[in-house]
Amino acid sequence: MVTAMAAQPLRPPSSAGPNFEAIGRRPPAAAPEGVAKEIVIRAEKLTIRYGNFAAVREVSLEIPSHEVTAIIGPSGCGKSTLLRAMNRMNDFVPGTTTEGRLTYRDQEVYGPDCDAVELRRRIGMVFQKPNPFPKSIFRNVCWGPKVNGYRGDLEDLVERSLKQAALWDEVKDKLDQSAFALSGGQQQRLCIARAVAMQPDVLLMDEPCSALDPIATARIEDLIHELKSRYTVALVTHNMQQAARVSDRTAFMYLGELVEVGATDMMFTKPGEQRTQDYITGRFG
Ligand SMILES: Nc1ncnc2c1ncn2[C@@H]1O[C@H](COP(=O)(O)OP(=O)(O)OP(=O)(O)O)[C@@H](O)[C@H]1O
Ligand SMILES: [Mg+2]
Repeated sequence: MVTAMAAQPLRPPSSAGPNFEAIGRRPPAAAPEGVAKEIVIRAEKLTIRYGNFAAVREVSLEIPSHEVTAIIGPSGCGKSTLLRAMNRMNDFVPGTTTEGRLTYRDQEVYGPDCDAVELRRRIGMVFQKPNPFPKSIFRNVCWGPKVNGYRGDLEDLVERSLKQAALWDEVKDKLDQSAFALSGGQQQRLCIARAVAMQPDVLLMDEPCSALDPIATARIEDLIHELKSRYTVALVTHNMQQAARVSDRTAFMYLGELVEVGATDMMFTKPGEQRTQDYITGRFG
């Protein structure tokens, strides 16, 4: 197995710079001023099993702050399992066991002192299928903060969150309507607003655009690009173009292993591993 740590030194220096146009990728946005990049989530030799089956095998991966890290790889290679470990959503899958080390800002995620509820408040999640609550648009956004004892102005929080999710203009006159009356793309942005209303540190997104049309997808991609100035994002996607367009770093998984991870422009132009090359050029998966 080649781990992230082993793969990175293979990378040639990027002196020539990537051809962003060739891969349809936007140049990476600078980190917010005064904000130093740090490792927010770190997996070290992480193995996750469903019963006896190891769906994720000895994965070592770092998620740096204020970047979008894309996790790509063929169906069944363990992307969602890895992502769900990061905020302990695998706790809800009976029979799951986790070995190795996973830290969130140097706190042991699977350690006895970790409060999983608080962890999920800090590390929010957006799923493949929009899953709004059967409530009004307003209550979808404010419900989590309210339950968590938010003491500020809820109307203000709802407006801010919907603006961050690029949905405010479309819903500001119908906040009392059911969330189910929104289109799929709007529902997904509502779920993003719901996640950001919790004022998280990290957003985990598992194929957030797979049920959306190209226009809604483009809006969510713009949004992901903007969100990274405030948050750290880990994004699972099957869409190579999307990974190339929105992510700063890309991790390629295959059969439960992390084959390699590196700067997205390098991964899509000069990957270090043949398997990565084959996957991104559509030769398998
Ligand atoms: N609850 C479960 N119980 C048993 N095995 C599971 C469970 N969930 C996932 N698996 C298995 O673990 C492996 C990894 O699954 P996972 O959902 O993480 O893959 P993925 O890369 O996200 O795939 P996809 O791209 O299709 O979403 C697969 O072989 C899958 O069958
Ligand atoms: Mg998945």
